[in-house]
Amino acid sequence: MTDLINTEKDLVISLKDYIKAEESKLEQIKKWAEKLDKLTDTATKDPEGFLGHPVNAFKLMKRLNTEWGELENLVLKDMSDGFISNMTIQRQFFPNDEDQTGAAKALLRLQDTYNLDTDTLSRGNLPGVKHKSFLTAEDCFELGKIAYTEADYYHTELWMEQALKQLDEGEVSSADKVYILDYLSYAVYQQGDLSKAVMLTKRLLELDPEHQRANGNMKYFEYIMAKEKEANKSSTESEDQAEKETEVKKKDYLPERRKYEMLCRGEGLKMTPRRQKRLFCRYYDGNRNPRYILGPVKQEDEWDKPRIVRFLDIISDEEIETVKELAKPRLSRATVHDPETGKLTTAHYRVSKSAWLSGYESPVVSRINTRIQDLTGLDVSTAEELQVANYGVGGQYEPHFDFGRKDEPDAFKELGTGNRIATWLFYMSDVSAGGATVFPEVGASVWPRKGTAVFWYNLFPSGEGDYSTRHAACPVLVGNKWVSNKWLHERGQEFRRPCTLSELE
Ligand code: OGA
Ligand code: FE2
Repeated sequence: MTDLINTEKDLVISLKDYIKAEESKLEQIKKWAEKLDKLTDTATKDPEGFLGHPVNAFKLMKRLNTEWGELENLVLKDMSDGFISNMTIQRQFFPNDEDQTGAAKALLRLQDTYNLDTDTLSRGNLPGVKHKSFLTAEDCFELGKIAYTEADYYHTELWMEQALKQLDEGEVSSADKVYILDYLSYAVYQQGDLSKAVMLTKRLLELDPEHQRANGNMKYFEYIMAKEKEANKSSTESEDQAEKETEVKKKDYLPERRKYEMLCRGEGLKMTPRRQKRLFCRYYDGNRNPRYILGPVKQEDEWDKPRIVRFLDIISDEEIETVKELAKPRLSRATVHDPETGKLTTAHYRVSKSAWLSGYESPVVSRINTRIQDLTGLDVSTAEELQVANYGVGGQYEPHFDFGRKDEPDAFKELGTGNRIATWLFYMSDVSAGGATVFPEVGASVWPRKGTAVFWYNLFPSGEGDYSTRHAACPVLVGNKWVSNKWLHERGQEFRRPCTLSELE
């Protein structure tokens, strides 16, 4: 997206050039008009006397025969050429409707994940922001409309209400309260709050008494309410009971989505003090690897089960810059395996850009691969290339396994080196807010810290998948996130990480 910032800058420059050209054109026209104004003033006062001077007669001929024509050309001259051609060139890089709705949905996602209330988000009061920015009533209306087209009436209500609130507070805007109320009352009705829908429709009708749909709705709402009242008289008690039961269910059962969002906010961590006492940090020499005996690296236990370790100061700022520069021109929208077709596709649950770097193309990449091999004790020659990923605001990767499950045996077929035995993940940036890597099955959150890397095994020594490694990359709330990962595969590890006697050890 940084390229788009430059595109916009270019366009503003050529727009300003156009304005200058148009202004100088107007200036010339004005001068001509003033000159002629004076001249015609004197001439009309005494036409014959004026034309008695031969030079005046000549000049009149000349003006009418050529000069007015020249002025006409000037008036007709298109000064917008440069700007329009620049626009045409740049337009091919412009975001499209899908990008715009994508960005809007990202805002709604952030709102849910980080429990942000609509007003906070609209006023731009986010933690750690450098450039504060707020939404206008019209922007809020736009967000509400996008939620509406997704049949997401919950967010439609929130954002239409926010738009209305900002208008009520006196914001000057071209957004129209009648339109907003129309959407809002429908969204409220869809969510079952009939009396509120009636109240909103009344408000709409005060502003526009002739509004056809609102008048129709009003009659319909009143009809339904009357019918409900009738039905309620008989069966209130049993309903109360049923309501209580669903409430209990809600509390006990937390869907993965809720766990994921809580962990992203740094809530719901499932670590007891007793277990935490067994987490340590140490200097690690890669099991007496000659390259690390004199200069061991710092290692911290992040989690016990599954075991997740973090390496500190494991990639330098210079290396990070090199990796990012190599990756940047090749970044493209990340893909996932479609389990039905086995093909790679884009998906809403993985929003990031990524690129693959081979060890052959740069000594830095090759050195990084060797480092991973030395510190994990695993053969990297059977691994995938180094993946570099960039998450912008709202970028995320919802809960997933890195390994292929039994029902998708073709997942890593082309590679021919077996399943993804382990994951190495470098954090190549700090993230101002959001962007944690979380493990919802076990209640673990790992926060990005620039220059560190985390490592975990996805498979048990038997080759069975470890389902507790299910993890996600939380949406970035503020800032942007760079990671780089290496997926190590089974082949080549037969003697480095042999099977044990028990299957799930
Ligand atoms: C992945 C992944 C986690 C993260 O790319 O498979 O899980 O924090 N990434 O980026
Ligand atoms: Fe992953």
